Amino acid sequence: MDNGSVGGLWSPLVRTEYLIILRHCLKTTKPLGESMVGSIVLFGPPGAGKGTQAGRIVELTSKPQVSTGDMLRAAVKLGSPMGLAAKEYMDAGLLVPDEVIIGLIQERLQEDDAAQGVLFDGFPRTIPQAESLEKIATVSSVISIEVPDDAIVDRIVGRRMDPETGEIFHVQFKPAPPEIEGRLIQRPDDTEETVRSRLEAYHNQTAPLADWYSDRGLLIRIDGNASINQVGVSVERAISRIL
Ligand code: AP5
Repeated sequence: MDNGSVGGLWSPLVRTEYLIILRHCLKTTKPLGESMVGSIVLFGPPGAGKGTQAGRIVELTSKPQVSTGDMLRAAVKLGSPMGLAAKEYMDAGLLVPDEVIIGLIQERLQEDDAAQGVLFDGFPRTIPQAESLEKIATVSSVISIEVPDDAIVDRIVGRRMDPETGEIFHVQFKPAPPEIEGRLIQRPDDTEETVRSRLEAYHNQTAPLADWYSDRGLLIRIDGNASINQVGVSVERAISRIL
């Protein structure tokens, strides 16, 4: 599997497909409030709690959440060529090639609701992605949720999602109400084996971005190895420093 295998996927066909995915993703965003702040990046290893904390940040900033993981899963669900190509990488715990991700983000940032910045969740994940982003948007802060590897595996293997609302639960740390338990799903990449590859990809390709953003004075580190509520309080403190 190499970048060439998906080369040329960002074609007019893929653009049409992107618009369908976008319509799906826009349903979950909230109206944009007045803000002088640019985009915020939510950064951290797989399972750090980015998706869990994103809702709180959306409420506080009124910026729409832009999750590349959600966009890719929507493409997989559609069974489109890009989705099928991306699925191979996702199931193997590898990063999807930069050109595909950057294409998705370039299109997404052209939407009206992105005019005053967005909350990036799971993007950028490589230095080339961050360099491309720097050319098309202003990142005002990067909130890094820091969690050690040994806590990550339990979090990911126990994660469950409500397909109707998109809400994220955990069998132990955030149990779902009994009335919806039966409809919860588990992501195909949430296996112990895949988590190890995802952590390897994180340490090799994504973690160096923390220094990259720190050098630019944008990184805010948060201890993510605490309860969901405690991490939420730290996230709120970080946001109050930004706004
Ligand atoms: P993506 O969907 O972005 O996955 P990820 O970064 O691996 O992050 P997760 O969604 O797994 O975790 P999270 O930090 O959101 O944690 P959550 O809040 O759910 O990407 C999936 C794949 O798509 C990638 O592997 C890659 O192939 C591809 N991809 C996506 N973006 C890409 C890009 N930019 N470039 C290239 N490829 C890309 O929490 C996890 C669990 O822990 C939940 O069950 C939750 O309830 C629980 N939990 C949360 N916080 C706590 C806490 N404080 N204490 C206890 N439990 C907690």
